[in-house]
Amino acid sequence: MEGFQVVSRGPLSSPLTGSVPVGGAKNSALKLMAASLLAVGRTVVTNVPDILDVHVMARLLQELGCTVRVSTGSTTEDASTTEDAPNGSSRTGTLEVSIDVPAELGHEAPYDLVRRLRASISVLGPLVARCGRAKVALPGGDNIGSRGLDMHITGLHELGAQVRIEHGFVVAEVPDRLRGANLWLDFPSVGATENLVMAAVLAAGTTVIDNVAREPEISDLCEMLVAMGADIEGITTSTLTVRGVDELRPVEHATVPDRIVSGTWAFAAAVAGGELTVSGGRARHLDIVLDKLASAGGSVSADADGFTVRVDKRLESFDVVTLPYPGFPTDLQPFAMTLAAVSDGTAMITENVFEARFMFAQELARLGADLRTDGHHAVVRGKPVLSGAPVVAHDIRAGAALVLAGLAADGTTVVAESHHIDRGYPRFAETLRRLGVEVERVELPDLAP
Ligand code: UD1
Repeated sequence: MEGFQVVSRGPLSSPLTGSVPVGGAKNSALKLMAASLLAVGRTVVTNVPDILDVHVMARLLQELGCTVRVSTGSTTEDASTTEDAPNGSSRTGTLEVSIDVPAELGHEAPYDLVRRLRASISVLGPLVARCGRAKVALPGGDNIGSRGLDMHITGLHELGAQVRIEHGFVVAEVPDRLRGANLWLDFPSVGATENLVMAAVLAAGTTVIDNVAREPEISDLCEMLVAMGADIEGITTSTLTVRGVDELRPVEHATVPDRIVSGTWAFAAAVAGGELTVSGGRARHLDIVLDKLASAGGSVSADADGFTVRVDKRLESFDVVTLPYPGFPTDLQPFAMTLAAVSDGTAMITENVFEARFMFAQELARLGADLRTDGHHAVVRGKPVLSGAPVVAHDIRAGAALVLAGLAADGTTVVAESHHIDRGYPRFAETLRRLGVEVERVELPDLAP
């Protein structure tokens, strides 16, 4: 098992200085790849992060009959040969993925691939729309909560599909063609919004979906669909109106920059101190986060190419409530908790999106954080310094946050199961090392069951 080993003397002891480039968003690129299924021909997705999940999605599209080529700047690889190289041969961390979609698609997404990637559920909508049927294994993914599919299923049913769960698969069949309907989501679910929009673009008639998620990754997907010939109104708002068309055409599309990776680097500067420029990061997608860091005593400046966070003293604690966009992102909550653990004062952190995110709190407590959780609230009392220890990453964001906690800890912190970090962050340890952090990848004995 792989781990990351970080050695530090605590916050501000070794400030991070320099510039970090941020590539395309994982949570967008995977959906853009799935959306390629909607048009026969070659779709090219650029600015794709070089992470394992992208290679798993490429394998899934191949399984459905597509020819997928992943190129890393100077080299092109068949998708099936790159899957085992989390950070591939790319030095930039950015890929171009070219997907040739045949007229006749397979309709079955097998468990072996789907269990490795929660986002594979996003092939459900396109497959139903294109093939009139889909059989997609129930997904696995992060250990951050129950992550239901009821809104995906109800929405597809409203659009005219017969949907059932059978032997670990979601099976959907459309007797004729999907037909437009008025839909309403109980909660602005990112995955359900994406699946339903991708189904509705090829339905007969108009679909209105209310209370949709408004994350920048959703707008990115909608913009690509519009470039493909879809008719979508209300992009960036809570109501999407989709007028179905008969067919879509393939396009080339550049993935929106990753606001969660950008936010992670903002928190890295806040936790360790220093002056870090996040180039390519869109400050306007992180308004609440950057505003909180500035109110806590950091200095934040944005320009056309990104933003810079400068922190030269211990920050003041601030409360966080996670909510769908434009609220504070749940994916950055573990970083906010880490910062609170070494800030001046007490912070209340409320997690409204994924109940199991607080598994992370137990690991942070192993590093000496003074915190208490009750349901979906956590109270964190800041201390000047944490204390290095072995800990375990349970998901992508928790893993990266534990590495940052290691920067705020005196001594050695070893984060086991670091493969989670590689699923979301291209070359994370290598980038930190370039910024002056004493961090290395280490081989660890497997954890006992
Ligand atoms: C996506 C992101 C994830 C991010 C999350 C919220 C990807 C691959 N992942 O996940 O990083 O943390 O958005 O910003 O893009 N729910 C239901 N029924 C449903 C659908 C969702 O109960 O049919 C619940 C989930 O269990 C969860 C909440 O709604 O508690 C939010 O889920 P959702 O917004 O769908 O997140 P994902 O698309 O899974």
